[in-house]
Amino acid sequence: MAAMSAHPPQQIPRRQWLATCAGAALLPFAQASAAQRDITLRFSHVVTEDTPKGRAASRFKALVEARSSGRITVQVFPDGQLYGDHDEMQALQLGAVDMVAPSLSKFGRIGLPEFELFDLPFLFEDLSEVRRVTLGALGQRLFNGLKRQGLVGLGFFDNGFKQMSANRPLLAPTDFAGLRMRVQASRVIADQMRALGARPVTLAFSETRRALATGVVDGTENPVSNFWTQGMHQVQSDLSLTNHGYLGYAVVTNQRFWEHLQADDRELINQALQEALEDARQIADVQNEAALAALRRSNTTRIHRLSAGQRVRLQQAVLPVHQALARRIGPDWFQALQDALAQPSA
Ligand code: LMR
Repeated sequence: MAAMSAHPPQQIPRRQWLATCAGAALLPFAQASAAQRDITLRFSHVVTEDTPKGRAASRFKALVEARSSGRITVQVFPDGQLYGDHDEMQALQLGAVDMVAPSLSKFGRIGLPEFELFDLPFLFEDLSEVRRVTLGALGQRLFNGLKRQGLVGLGFFDNGFKQMSANRPLLAPTDFAGLRMRVQASRVIADQMRALGARPVTLAFSETRRALATGVVDGTENPVSNFWTQGMHQVQSDLSLTNHGYLGYAVVTNQRFWEHLQADDRELINQALQEALEDARQIADVQNEAALAALRRSNTTRIHRLSAGQRVRLQQAVLPVHQALARRIGPDWFQALQDALAQPSA
């Protein structure tokens, strides 16, 4: 079977479109819309396969390919092989890939700062609180905003809670003084590091380990599964279990690609994705626990726990970060957040 792409021409500057498509097997729209056509769906992400996101992508691929008897192929490009943080969203908008699953922290820079609600430090107590937001009306409202960027949100899922690392314990605001901390491209996370007395340095995920190894930055934050699978434990002597913030993802696709799919293919792909994301939501905690156990066994990194008093002092230090975001995106988002968190658990 000759594979063909399901991608219609895009409303983008012609020069960019041509550059994107150079060398690609792009068939004319009319031909591509023949019944039961073969489809290749390209899913790009920046983490390894052995992470919650990597596992979700592999499961999605297996389900789609089995249910379509191989007619729909999912090509997964993990670990930033194809695109990194800085260009994966643009690649999606240009139609150079069909699905990405960036962290929620990375939507602010495409004009959707309300996604940075998820970055607020010490906002969520546990993942069931996160679900009240992502699986409810607020999650839908956030996805509605994606249309402005020609994107469709297909689902949220978790990595888990972030920990702080450096070559020293990070248990009190004074421990952060003067440290250069790698952050994702989120103003909320940058403000959080400033509030703690550190200097935020925005870097792509794929550049982080090297930057830590060479001393370009002194520390960072991430859930343990990312810390472990990127080998950051080899270049950081201390990991402090602060659980201070949430890291989650949204799977997004290009609206034109999505709308151009035949209804039954769209249904098959969406159903497989929802199942893969449900599995991913079940395994995120387990994967972070497994990574922590492996980290303990590796004996490379000292692991610190926060006392209740230390947690309160960190919380107090970062309170202004919440107020700054409320000023930036408006109080109604905070009201909606409060309403979502007040809902009983599903
Ligand atoms: C990071 O950049 O630290 C994470 O968002 C990477 C990821 O996708 O888990």
